[in-house]
Amino acid sequence: MKFHAETLGLSDTAFNLLCDLIHQRTGLFYENNKQEILADKLSARVVECGFHSFLDYYYFLKYDPAAAAEWPRIMDALSVQETYFWREMDQVRALVDVLVPQYFAAGRRDPLRIWSAACATGEEPLSIAMALHEAGWLARVPIEIYGSDASPVAIQKAQRGLYRERSFRALPAELRARYFTAEEEGWRIAPHLHSRIRWAVVNLLAEDEIAPFASSPVIFCRNVFIYFSPEATCRVARAFYERMPSPGYLFIAAAESLLRLNTGFELQQVGGAFVYVKQ
Ligand SMILES: C[S@@+](CC[C@H](N)C(=O)[O-])C[C@H]1O[C@@H](n2cnc3c(N)ncnc32)[C@H](O)[C@@H]1O
Repeated sequence: MKFHAETLGLSDTAFNLLCDLIHQRTGLFYENNKQEILADKLSARVVECGFHSFLDYYYFLKYDPAAAAEWPRIMDALSVQETYFWREMDQVRALVDVLVPQYFAAGRRDPLRIWSAACATGEEPLSIAMALHEAGWLARVPIEIYGSDASPVAIQKAQRGLYRERSFRALPAELRARYFTAEEEGWRIAPHLHSRIRWAVVNLLAEDEIAPFASSPVIFCRNVFIYFSPEATCRVARAFYERMPSPGYLFIAAAESLLRLNTGFELQQVGGAFVYVKQ
């Protein structure tokens, strides 16, 4: 069932208040002309929570302690989980061919932690694991891979490890054959690879939630800042910067940039890919 903004009274005031609150808590930014999109995505939540207007929903979110349990549902409602295997692989190649050998040079034995920070349904950390496995690294050196997203539904799908055709648009056929088996509902990722990823629900705007992961020397945070305001992007990138060791490597998508923001990172080219480096 679809609910319309007018029925719930999406006045400019309510919209602005709700937008500001969502922006503060999630980083997601809706321009004034995107009012209807936000209304469409949230109206079912408003009704399910038993409210008759967006304004009442806003007051609930803002002042009621019980709203803590509602924020993950909001993330599910607003999350755009567009992702696929083998996306923007030049950056993964740089990790596999340059950063991993560099890290383990001179016999270093402490694990390399790699965090895919807004991994949606898991294709990104699984592509990283596949590429590392192909190059023989996973069997040779200690590597920990974390995959997280603010949407619990996305992480549940990642944990399930079953993928539809859309996820395979860029994956070479021989890799699909090697790492997936066909089932009635889709393609199942090989358990030996799937079990290499530790999954978590993490909101990038919640400093206490990112703290256990952001000390990783390699962070992939791709195709999420495009939905954030520059302020929210800067806040998250700075929080990474403060916690990452040096050298630390932050990969964001080709369509994104930190260049106009004062984050501390320096843009460098590593093995043919661009990466933001904490020196
Ligand atoms: C387009 S997907 C990107 C997936 C993958 N990184 C890629 O590049 O293919 C964007 C993801 O960002 C997540 N996201 C949005 N806001 C977030 C936040 N504040 N914290 C963590 N994840 C967030 C969404 O739930 C969505 O799954």
